[in-house]
Amino acid sequence: MFDTMTVTKAAGALIGSLLFLLLMDWAASGIYHIGPSGHGEGEEHAQAYTIPVEDAGGDAGGEAADAGPDFATVLASADAAAGEKVFGKCKACHKLDGSDSTGPHLNGVVGRPVASAAGFNYSDGMKGHVADAPDWTPEALQEFLTSPKTVVKGTKMAFAGLPKVEDRANLIAYLETQK
Ligand code: HEC
Repeated sequence: MFDTMTVTKAAGALIGSLLFLLLMDWAASGIYHIGPSGHGEGEEHAQAYTIPVEDAGGDAGGEAADAGPDFATVLASADAAAGEKVFGKCKACHKLDGSDSTGPHLNGVVGRPVASAAGFNYSDGMKGHVADAPDWTPEALQEFLTSPKTVVKGTKMAFAGLPKVEDRANLIAYLETQK
């Protein structure tokens, strides 16, 4: 077990550090009390609180901006010419002349029943999507195109998605012109 010397040393160390903490506390309170009176300190604290309040206001504004207008509103003023450029990302796999390639042809896709291009070998995931969304309405398309693999589990469409609502709206406006 412990001999007396060990206990004494341990106690000494403990008291020493307590004394150190007390001294630090005293020194710190000395610093705090320099300058304006207690009222001044109170005011400083009050000011410190306004910063998080301002931040919160800023964040709320940011969130509102992020949410942005809803899809229907964006689609109403969508730009088909800009959408043709967005379609550049789809061209590697989709044609607009009625023939299928890696993906099914996309002319006439707006309003077309899901997984209905005759002769195209759809994944089971896409065939199952018919139950969730029977037709490619603009709304169903924009949801799918936001994140294809999340919306249609097991789809073989290897495309990350279009995160910007404007891109989706412009693209769908363009596809509407491709009958
Ligand atoms: C890497 C190739 C590839 C790219 C790029 C790609 N797709 Fe696809 N797409 C596919 C494949 C493959 C399918 C069939 C998916 C399945 O059966 O799961 C598909 C299916 C679809 C469907 C469903 C069609 C139907 O008949 O039901 C739509 C709509 C679609 N893609 C739109 C797009 C759009 C718009 C883009 C560009 C933003 C795009 N895709 C980019 C390969 C691709």
